[in-house]
Amino acid sequence: HSVELGEHRHYMHKEIFEQPQAVIDTLQGRITDSSVLVSAFGHRAESIFAEIENIQIIACGTSYHAGMVARYWFEDILGLPCSVEVASEFRYRHPVIRNKTLLVTISQSGETADTLAALREAKQQFPGIASLTICNAPESSLTRESNLVFLTHAGPEIGVASTKAFTTQLVALALLMTAIGQVQKRLTEQREKTIVHGLQKLPTLIQNALKHEETIKQIALSFADKTSALFLGRGTMFPIAMEGALKLKEISYIHAEAYPAGELKHGPLALIDEQIPVVAIAPKDELLEKLKSNLQEVKARGGQMIVFEDEGSCVSSDNDNFHVVKATTNVGRITAPITFNIPLQLLSYHVALIKGTDVDQPRNLAKSVTVE
Ligand code: G6P
Repeated sequence: HSVELGEHRHYMHKEIFEQPQAVIDTLQGRITDSSVLVSAFGHRAESIFAEIENIQIIACGTSYHAGMVARYWFEDILGLPCSVEVASEFRYRHPVIRNKTLLVTISQSGETADTLAALREAKQQFPGIASLTICNAPESSLTRESNLVFLTHAGPEIGVASTKAFTTQLVALALLMTAIGQVQKRLTEQREKTIVHGLQKLPTLIQNALKHEETIKQIALSFADKTSALFLGRGTMFPIAMEGALKLKEISYIHAEAYPAGELKHGPLALIDEQIPVVAIAPKDELLEKLKSNLQEVKARGGQMIVFEDEGSCVSSDNDNFHVVKATTNVGRITAPITFNIPLQLLSYHVALIKGTDVDQPRNLAKSVTVE
């Protein structure tokens, strides 16, 4: 990974396109053909993983969204209770941490003040608690102060809006989930193999998603005069919708909000008119039919829809106000959120380009927030 821009106009664009390689580098040396190497999390990982009964994830910003995706995996795939919270809340609310909890911090920089303070606070209140950090900075405060360290190998991320770090955090969390499942025998060998094979396919899946850039550029045009946008998803696509909305806010300064699609009727439906673009993520999963009926509600109110779907999702578009992009094909439980995030990154990037904002250095934001 070089820090030269090369053919790219912005670091964010370069980093979006580095994601297939960042995934390869993060998997490198951490898996075999059919299983995850538990030792990749440190020599004490096996004994710590054997003991834990709960996971508590703490992070900020984009890293928090990675944690939110992982919660679905820990509970759904392993049956292991998992909570996720933003560090600035966790550190001050005197949380109760159950015995045998693994405290997981996620951070690109390893220096985010709130995340670090939350870890310190938890260690002070609950001496002996096991901690693990998923971090992109080897020599950082979080790596020094955690029992276990898993480094994402995203390479230096310059753009303030996080892209490749997020993708590799999700890969790291998938590996963590699988490693704990392996140690606690919560996963069959077959299931583990399927997960590992899915992860191996990720670089290609991401590469394919990146090929939709031209289409997404066209769609971005319709955002230029908008002041607000709504992002919808269900299951792991809800945190991906949150991440999509955050990216749009950060770099294009358009107000964007994410909602779990099932909550539409409890409020945001009142916002829908011809002015507000609604972005939905529609993987082919057991919630697809429910999502489709949520989308009908939007359509019936004249909203402009942009749907990123799976090859087999078949969300039908029957008017000009309804764009459907077949963003991916054959994604699984783990690979879907990682892959569907890619077109959302491209969308916010191209909206920002049209608006002429400072993509790599958005106003009022910092890459690493080391003060409270
Ligand atoms: C800042 C950055 C975000 C990042 C967040 C958490 O807000 O602009 O891109 O997600 O901090 O940073 P961390 O380094 O802890 O992941």
